[in-house]
Amino acid sequence: MCGIIGFSGNLEAAPVLVAGLEQLEYRGYDSAGIAVQSAKGVKTAKTVGNVSVLKEKIKEETFEGSCGIGHTRWATHGGVSEENAHPHRFGKVTLIHNGIIENYKEIWEEYGAGKTLASQTDTEIAAALFDALYEGKPEETIRKAVKLLEGSYAFCIMFEGVPDTVYCIRKVSPLVAARAKEGSFVASDVTALIAYTQDYFVLPEDTILVLKKEELYLEDLQGRRVEPEMLHVNWDTTAAQKNGYPHYMIKEIHEQPEALHNTIAPRMKAGIPDFEVDKIPDRIFKEINQIKIVACGTAMHAGMVGKVLIEKRVRIPVAVEIASEFRYQNPIIDEKTLVIVISQSGETIDTLASLRLAKSEGACTLGIVNVKGSTIARESDYVLYTHAGPEIAVASTKAYTVQIAALVMLAMRMAYVRGKLDEAGMKKDYELLKSSVEALKLSLTLEETIKELTYALTDKEDLFFIGRGIDYALSCEGSIKLKEISYIHSEAYAAGELKHGTISLITEGVPVIAIATQESVYAKMISNIREVKARGALVILITQEDMEAEEAIYDYHLTIPKLPDEFTPIPTAVILQLIAYYTSVHRGLNVDQPRNLAKSVTVE
Ligand code: F6R
Repeated sequence: MCGIIGFSGNLEAAPVLVAGLEQLEYRGYDSAGIAVQSAKGVKTAKTVGNVSVLKEKIKEETFEGSCGIGHTRWATHGGVSEENAHPHRFGKVTLIHNGIIENYKEIWEEYGAGKTLASQTDTEIAAALFDALYEGKPEETIRKAVKLLEGSYAFCIMFEGVPDTVYCIRKVSPLVAARAKEGSFVASDVTALIAYTQDYFVLPEDTILVLKKEELYLEDLQGRRVEPEMLHVNWDTTAAQKNGYPHYMIKEIHEQPEALHNTIAPRMKAGIPDFEVDKIPDRIFKEINQIKIVACGTAMHAGMVGKVLIEKRVRIPVAVEIASEFRYQNPIIDEKTLVIVISQSGETIDTLASLRLAKSEGACTLGIVNVKGSTIARESDYVLYTHAGPEIAVASTKAYTVQIAALVMLAMRMAYVRGKLDEAGMKKDYELLKSSVEALKLSLTLEETIKELTYALTDKEDLFFIGRGIDYALSCEGSIKLKEISYIHSEAYAAGELKHGTISLITEGVPVIAIATQESVYAKMISNIREVKARGALVILITQEDMEAEEAIYDYHLTIPKLPDEFTPIPTAVILQLIAYYTSVHRGLNVDQPRNLAKSVTVE
């Protein structure tokens, strides 16, 4: 959470910082600020609201200087107010922070005597600590401070008397940096740097990064120079723009065919998934007797689909765990467990903590991650990168379908390696995977129909998604997508479970989105739909195109092409994404930046 950027170079800093913050806004958008250093000192501007509010506020102001820091906030410690917005200044120190300082009370007791704070944030207390320790030597100050700070942090710090220089240090919270002809850059995410360069590096923990006009360099905590490990992104600025779409979310929904192609194609050799490019050995699929899939939110819902796919093909027990629960449940894992962690951002703190726990118990860990070089990617024993490109909208869409594709390929390879699927079977599955991507393209053509039918949902207060088997996993995903961006209360139910309580909530006009794409349980599902229709529900039915459904049981009927049961999630997901998107649009909401949320959840 929170987006941070730092710059020192040969351009005016203020516009560079604001442009960077615009790219990072998905990480938090309740307040924003910048601080620019010049010979006259440091000038700060901050405001409640998103970056556009900040931009408006400073449009008449001049910020002299070509070195500065900027921050877009997702409040954790202290409410949403101008005082709590970053940058924070204390004495000779101006800084921005992403993370949480856990021992802020102790630090303040020790270093705050006789001083006063202007905000309610842990960050200002950290600034007070840096200031108290500062004796004209920034690196030494940072070395001393990190010994005292507990929690997670990414700091960009400017010290009075040290012109044109930004110092950075991080623990857990991400920071990437790059050198370009315009100067030296640091940011929470490469999307803020891509306008200048595609080559960057991840700042290692316990390493001080020094940004100067003419150079940037790294030093470890003993003061020794460290060479950065360079990474390259194969997308450019256009990938992180709306490119004519009204919102990032709809753009990203439409990018799914390409994202899926980019994720699947490099792994397919003559119709057989092969993870040689990922350096994932077959051995890790053989030497296991159970699999745990651990993730949060949408990524966890992809895991639920993965469980069905793997168990069906491989006949090995797979448990899907919510990362924030898993890490506190003393999970039963050992050397014979494969722990698959799924994360778009690769920074979700609960998923990361679960990964670390699994490793400490001796399990083999495999990350399915979208962001290159992210912490989860680096710390997993093996990583299977999805190639969705940058996902900016807070609601995850393309990252979800590529996660499912990755799980299909893993299930196929595991089944092959364990003798449950022969080459012919793999080739058949590959054809079906390709068909499900073609089917997704057809789901995209339903956009206008979905746009129209979602007017029926705009004034509703409650809504239900029901499904059986894999369609229950899709119901969970449809429900989270709809509620996070439309603010309509929604619940996902396994269709057979409704009559154990929930059906009492189904009254005249309550929408029920019934996902009934599974041939194996279709008749049962139709019975459940009859039960809700009989109680007055407004039913939106989703089936495969050849499945018969009498008109009396639905109000709207959407179909996907005919596919075997396990290959329906990808085209079905698109329908659910479009339902959520247009419901939010009709309600006039901020689709890409729903209230209270942030894309990358780096706090517990
Ligand atoms: C919902 C959504 C979230 C994320 C979750 C995990 O649309 O985006 O539920 O899926 O916060 O994030 P990652 O995948 O980055 O670990």
